[in-house]
Amino acid sequence: MKIKVYINDQWRTFDVEPSEYLLDTLRRYDYLSVRRGCDTTSCGVCTVLLDGKPVPSCSVLAVSVDNKAVTTVEGIKKEAEKISHYFGLEGADQCGFCNPALALTVYAMKQEFDNLSDHEIREYLIGNLCRCSGYIAQEKAVRKYLEDKS
Ligand code: FES
Ligand code: FES
Repeated sequence: MKIKVYINDQWRTFDVEPSEYLLDTLRRYDYLSVRRGCDTTSCGVCTVLLDGKPVPSCSVLAVSVDNKAVTTVEGIKKEAEKISHYFGLEGADQCGFCNPALALTVYAMKQEFDNLSDHEIREYLIGNLCRCSGYIAQEKAVRKYLEDKS
């Protein structure tokens, strides 16, 4: 069946199976920044924004996003570059596998909230696992990005 999705600021039509997950659709249509990790809603590397909110695309049926807005990291290029800049400054960049999903989640958090405490930031990011960083450098980078009003 066909679905229409507003993805990264343009309408596209995708041909999907009724039981297909959004992660599979996106990767089949070459949105390869959307990564596959656990495939069981645990790691967050498949995160995309659905109508502006982070969701694990491995657990969202593709048919359910018909006529909705989906954003991958390519759709927030400028903000992703800023986030990457702070990750570099704090030495938080390691293998990079989690970075696109984390950038989308951090961006959504900044859109939604002001003046979050460290605890609230950690809570918001709880679904985004990173097997390399130990999180401390990432948290410092995220804090600097949130404080960047440019
Ligand atoms: S691949 Fe979706 S949460 Fe891990
Ligand atoms: S930097 Fe390797 S998984 Fe996060």
